[in-house]
Amino acid sequence: MVRIAAESLAGVVFMCLILVCCAVKDVVTGYDRERVACPYKSLVFGPGLETNFVVPARFFYIQAVDFENNNFTYSPGKNAFEIVIKPISGNRGRIYIQTLDRHDGTFIVRFRLYDSYDGLKIEVKSAGRHVADSPYKLKGLVRCENCDCPVDDQDQWRSDMYCRSGVHPQTQTDFSIFPSIDLGTLHRDVESRFAKHHSLCHYSIINNKVYRKTLGSIVGFKMFSDAFLLSLTRKVRVPDVEFFINLGDWPLEKRDPEDEPLPILSWCGSTDTRDIVLPTYDITESTLETMGRVSLDMMSVQANTGPKWENKTEKAFWRGRDSRRERLNLVKLSRRRPELLDAALTNFFFFRNEEAEYGPKVKHVSFYDFFNFKYQINVDGTVAAYRLPYLLAGDSAVFRHDSIYYEHFYAELEPWVHYIPFKLDLSDLEERIEWAMQNDDSAQTIAENGKAYVRENLTSNNIFCYYLQVLEEYASRQVGSPKIHEGMELLEQPSENNNCDCPNESTRHTEL
Ligand SMILES: *[C@@H]1O[C@H](CO)[C@@H](O)[C@H](O)[C@H]1NC(C)=O
Ligand SMILES: *[C@@H]1O[C@H](CO)[C@@H](O)[C@H](O)[C@H]1NC(C)=O
Ligand SMILES: *[C@@H]1O[C@H](CO)[C@@H](O)[C@H](O)[C@H]1NC(C)=O
Ligand SMILES: *[C@@H]1O[C@H](CO)[C@@H](O)[C@H](O)[C@H]1NC(C)=O
Repeated sequence: MVRIAAESLAGVVFMCLILVCCAVKDVVTGYDRERVACPYKSLVFGPGLETNFVVPARFFYIQAVDFENNNFTYSPGKNAFEIVIKPISGNRGRIYIQTLDRHDGTFIVRFRLYDSYDGLKIEVKSAGRHVADSPYKLKGLVRCENCDCPVDDQDQWRSDMYCRSGVHPQTQTDFSIFPSIDLGTLHRDVESRFAKHHSLCHYSIINNKVYRKTLGSIVGFKMFSDAFLLSLTRKVRVPDVEFFINLGDWPLEKRDPEDEPLPILSWCGSTDTRDIVLPTYDITESTLETMGRVSLDMMSVQANTGPKWENKTEKAFWRGRDSRRERLNLVKLSRRRPELLDAALTNFFFFRNEEAEYGPKVKHVSFYDFFNFKYQINVDGTVAAYRLPYLLAGDSAVFRHDSIYYEHFYAELEPWVHYIPFKLDLSDLEERIEWAMQNDDSAQTIAENGKAYVRENLTSNNIFCYYLQVLEEYASRQVGSPKIHEGMELLEQPSENNNCDCPNESTRHTEL
């Protein structure tokens, strides 16, 4: 045992030494390189190395480090690390693995389990040698996301999920005007005020089962809230709670705080409404469907951020549809100052009769190709442009429209730190782009900060944590008990047998 270890260590040292003097052939790719990653100095870390971190796609990170202990800041080659994830005992398992090269010396490794396994082994190798403490062993039953095995103790779950401590500032603000929520009158009031012209879901979660009734006629988007609430209640016990989710784009509650506003949960907030904000349906869906139905998610984008800063086209870029007057004005500006801005419409719908002036519409550009440009313009559409999280995740500097709409995390972003602000009417946009061109280092720092924020704060576990917190804050204000109302249906959990083997209540209590 000892001898084998010593030999492999010697091999690594030898391998790393020859790099110091000259370019070497990368054993993995065959390319000549000045440096390669040193297996035993590179770092492997992140929540996906733990059994109880249950999210749809588990993830961890690799930092490539060279022989001299320096972190790589560019890619050591996309095949620098080989990953094998398999059940500790038995055969291969149904596990889908992706390694995403972030081109900054780090990788995201993520994997989706299609079954549960009694112990999982994660091997991270470079040039055939184990990296850091590889192999990592996830002991005990490593459960598939489909398992309906809610953790009773919310604090335990929060700790397993690396939830941030404290109440999110947006949630704090949202609930500050709702010291109590009277369930006795809520459903009647919501139905009479909103059901006629809007579409909502009325949910009751009782004993961790989700019941739902829809109000209004355009209710397709219930699929996002249904799926997320089912996923959340599979993972953690949610307090009994009864609430409404607005399925439309616009937040609804316009009443002032002293005028008995109703607590409506919405995917987008605005400064002239009182809705309680949830993560958008877009990020909600991509959290659930990472490595599934959705290809653009907070992690895939990190591996597709175009050329390095120095090599990006020094111009602002924008594509989108005509959902707001300012978007047309942006096109106008782009025509007047093409050296600053490349903006064009990909579709006409709201302002069809102005197509002659602002068209012709141009072909779609793949989102990843936006990052060929140094500056990204985020202009609101009908409401907040839900692309902002993805734009921030790239390594371009984001210019953000000063608008009344916001998503759940905007309250934590600071102008000139995470983004460059510009006015609602675009009147200072030219000047701001010129500022960025003249202050390249500052613009790059802003790009880095925005990226760091979303990398850390918009991972899937954060989205689960956020939803639970909103429901807990809500539940703690309820007066009266949540009920199963007439017309509500029970939403069923997936029925596949994923070998979940949940610990049941009694066994869980004896474990404590
Ligand atoms: C090297 O990378 C790790 C992980 O990304 C980071 O924690 C550490 O601070 C970096 N070290 C230096 C010297 O930058
Ligand atoms: C920029 O592009 C040039 C030409 O393709 C390339 O040689 C250089 O390595 C790139 N710079 C960076 C920092 O990627
Ligand atoms: C994540 O959000 C927290 C809370 O706002 C903040 O303190 C932290 O700096 C953020 N992380 C990054 C890397 O920006
Ligand atoms: C749950 O408890 C019941 C009765 O105590 C027991 O028969 C059953 O096997 C347990 N199930 C699991 C998955 O532990």
